[in-house]
Amino acid sequence: MPSALFDHYLMADHRACDHLLGSLRRHAVGKDWPAAQAAFASLQHDVLAHFAAEEEVMFPAFEAASGMTCGPTAVMRMEHAEARELLDDLAAATQAQDTDGVRGHAEALLILLQQHNMKEENILYPAAISAAGPTAAELTAQIVLRREAK
Ligand SMILES: [Fe+2]
Ligand SMILES: [Fe+2]
Repeated sequence: MPSALFDHYLMADHRACDHLLGSLRRHAVGKDWPAAQAAFASLQHDVLAHFAAEEEVMFPAFEAASGMTCGPTAVMRMEHAEARELLDDLAAATQAQDTDGVRGHAEALLILLQQHNMKEENILYPAAISAAGPTAAELTAQIVLRREAK
């Protein structure tokens, strides 16, 4: 049952994070700072939990199964680090109620995540599912558990 595997779950998460980023930008432009703060808090939590599920569960499983430790997962980890820096910039701009800062950093994060997510969705997720073979369903359960951990 391929539709129950982690690629669909993580792809839906990508879309949900894009949506939160759009909400943050809209609230900042409308100067609704309590709503912007709430959108940022959700965005930060969800992006960091998504990265943790990938870095702590999915990437190690792919690296172990494929023997590739300096290939695509190394690039993905580097891009996660860049995204974390942009989240820090967004936190500061939101805190300072700096509309232009939020718009600029949100745009940069959106572009980074769109390119990053496309590589995961088109290349890494299919490769990781293929590498996992019969353990793909079990790996999916572990990824969901980490992503939804409190
Ligand atoms: Fe990622
Ligand atoms: Fe991802």
